[in-house]
Amino acid sequence: MKKINIAIDGPSAAGKSTIAKRLAKRLNYSHLDTGAMYRCVAYQAQRLGVDVADEAALATMIDAMQIDFDSDHHVYINGEDVSLAIRENAISMLASSVSVFPAVRERLVHMQQTIAQNKGYIMDGRDIGTVVLPDAEVKVYMVASVEARAKRRYEEYMEKGMDADYSVIYKDIEQRDHQDMHRPLSPLRKADDAVEIDTSDMSIEEVEEAIAQLLPSKC
Ligand code: C5P
Repeated sequence: MKKINIAIDGPSAAGKSTIAKRLAKRLNYSHLDTGAMYRCVAYQAQRLGVDVADEAALATMIDAMQIDFDSDHHVYINGEDVSLAIRENAISMLASSVSVFPAVRERLVHMQQTIAQNKGYIMDGRDIGTVVLPDAEVKVYMVASVEARAKRRYEEYMEKGMDADYSVIYKDIEQRDHQDMHRPLSPLRKADDAVEIDTSDMSIEEVEEAIAQLLPSKC
């Protein structure tokens, strides 16, 4: 059985991570949530008081950071579990801000490529099919309306017992879409060879099946 890499890109809250986790379980693959890595950079900068507009300072900070994941999808910075803290809405916007810098992207992309070199990865993010894994055997571009995404994110926060305001989430999603699609470096876009799936009116099971149909018979 030949393991492959699967790239899932798309705007925030399109359901990428949920689907990636399910597929990873189904295929016995590993899931790498690259957005969590940008969130770690934002969170670390915020708490250490590093200026998120200072590219060189961010680079130095990243060089002193070890980001790890475990099989339960917990995220660690230098051994400390930051899984919940990095999900705060304020960190989402900051992550989008730090992700514009070449020195930040180069470092995280390098880590992501190193992790995926042994294949058997489902990686989700914004630039996986275009930049991180241009040779991924399967590429999916997941989209959904802003309404559908804001509703999902709101429900996710409620389930985790976190504070949430639907209208704030809606506006942040719109703003992050704009920032992520219009930055000069690695903007969010569909790779030419990616299959686009609009998940607005689909259940999680339907999306999972649609992607499963794209996979080679043995992988
Ligand atoms: O996916 P998530 O919403 O957690 O990502 C947070 C932010 O990190 C995104 O808005 C985007 O700006 C950035 N990001 C990125 N490239 C990736 C993954 C995330 O620029 N591969």
